[in-house]
Amino acid sequence: MKPWTQEKNAPLPGQFLCSLDGFTEGEIREITFARGSKHPFHLFIHRQGGELRCYVNRCPHFGIPLNLEPGMLLSSDRQQFMCSTHYARFNFHDGLCTEGPCEGGALERIPVEIRNAALYVAPFLAAGD
Ligand code: FES
Repeated sequence: MKPWTQEKNAPLPGQFLCSLDGFTEGEIREITFARGSKHPFHLFIHRQGGELRCYVNRCPHFGIPLNLEPGMLLSSDRQQFMCSTHYARFNFHDGLCTEGPCEGGALERIPVEIRNAALYVAPFLAAGD
């Protein structure tokens, strides 16, 4: 799999992601860029412990989104993210897969920053920079 920064339709630094109005603890917001195209780019943002973390919605096992239905990103105990296809489980704080066929792999984190009560993709170094 290519690094997410090299994926077609990946958001660039400075890309607006969402307003933080009403973004409550425990909430997950899913965003898709280029929806309906051949190469949609899926990400999700999770608020937990007051922190906002953004991950590419791409399971390291098969490279497909974790969820088959909107909003279905959590394990049944709601303590981890979970892939709906083969039930890999991932930590909230670092995206590490702790159980399942891609154990030891991890979700890719997208750096984010808050400006004016909204979330944006933060600057990052592309591979080779
Ligand atoms: S595709 Fe996610 S665990 Fe297999």
